[in-house]
Amino acid sequence: MPPGVPTDWYASLVRALRPWGGRIAVDTSDAPLLALAGQFPGAAPDLLKPNSEELAQLTGADAERLEAEAKAGDPTGCVTAARALVDRGVTAVMATLGAAGAVLVTAEGAWHASPPQITVRSTVGAGDSSVAGYILAETRGGTPAERLATAVAYGSAAAALAGTTLPRPDQLERDAVTVRALA
Ligand SMILES: Nc1ncnc2c1ncn2[C@@H]1O[C@H](COP(=O)(O)OP(=O)(O)OP(=O)(O)O)[C@@H](O)[C@H]1O
Ligand SMILES: [Mg+2]
Repeated sequence: MPPGVPTDWYASLVRALRPWGGRIAVDTSDAPLLALAGQFPGAAPDLLKPNSEELAQLTGADAERLEAEAKAGDPTGCVTAARALVDRGVTAVMATLGAAGAVLVTAEGAWHASPPQITVRSTVGAGDSSVAGYILAETRGGTPAERLATAVAYGSAAAALAGTTLPRPDQLERDAVTVRALA
């Protein structure tokens, strides 16, 4: 956030942008995230992209446990936490879970995507690349499962690159991402 703006700036921004008809994605943490959520559903975005820590901040869950359970094949805790935010007005919640991939929850359903096996070089900005991948797939009319898979492919490609280098489409391992629909 720019220095000096109030903590509830994202909440104000979402409300101000709504009448203009675009779609809004928010990826934030700590006090600005809690301030945004405090104004759901009025300030609910179309996409919220918490990582496990941010999902825990919002719902009181244990972040390490959420990631460990998802990595072991049981993302139920993440889905429950994300669904609570969908119930409060967010159209899509994509919770990224580091090496455990990501979970997507919408009113239509829930999906978990497992990432490719990569050699991690820098996870800084991996979440940003996940958001970019999601938006790219959505603008191409992708299904929820395709949006999630593209998000995880871009996030993992970013994590495999040094520093904040952004992945190019030819660096994706899209076919190594597996998506599973959840109940
Ligand atoms: N160890 C890993 N193996 C494979 N993929 C990974 C790994 N760590 C991160 N990723 C990929 O990056 C995505 C985003 O990671 P993470 O959940 O750590 O985001 P984040 O904490 O929001 O990152 P940041 O805020 O630094 O951009 C994951 O969904 C996954 O696709
Ligand atoms: Mg992040």
